[in-house]
Amino acid sequence: MKIGILISGRGSNMVAIVDAVRSGDVPSSEVVVVISDKADAAGLAKARERGVETVVVERNGRKRAEHDAEIISELKKRDVELVCLAGYMRLLSPDFVQAFPNKIINIHPSLLPAFPGLNAQKQAFDARVKVTGCTVHYVDELLDHGPVILQREVPRLPDDTVESLSARILEQEHGAYVDALRILAR
Ligand code: GAR
Repeated sequence: MKIGILISGRGSNMVAIVDAVRSGDVPSSEVVVVISDKADAAGLAKARERGVETVVVERNGRKRAEHDAEIISELKKRDVELVCLAGYMRLLSPDFVQAFPNKIINIHPSLLPAFPGLNAQKQAFDARVKVTGCTVHYVDELLDHGPVILQREVPRLPDDTVESLSARILEQEHGAYVDALRILAR
């Protein structure tokens, strides 16, 4: 399974995936490219340190479809079979979704369908939910939407801050993404 990972920032989920694939935790798989839409994404250096090829495809004021076409071409060039969105903060165009049918997955820091969009951890915190968590799901043309592969729950503790809650969710995200990939690789 040739995997391509899309990031926009820190890249901690990308690192979890690359390390799990490298260690054989996700069988019969290889991360062939990490693509960022931001040249200053901290995750780029982390991918390079791990010997993974990186590509920057900035939007540069182009229309979404045009930007996506370049990313699709970079993925197809490398025969990518599964696209993992890992903190990639752009909505995909319909063309992108159709170029990889049922082959794009995403991680989101809430129990979808609750709290899609930006700052999901803060949305859940402010809503005073008792339990939140993270979701790995197939990507369709809507934001943070599509069939769920798996979810992990994280309780909101009485003395939690948005930061402490987000940190515990992130820890679960890394394991959840690797679990989802193991399911798909099988
Ligand atoms: C993660 O918490 C991920 O779930 C979230 O962005 C963060 C990226 O962190 N994604 C979304 O909110 C998607 N809607 P990372 O760059 O360290 O993996």
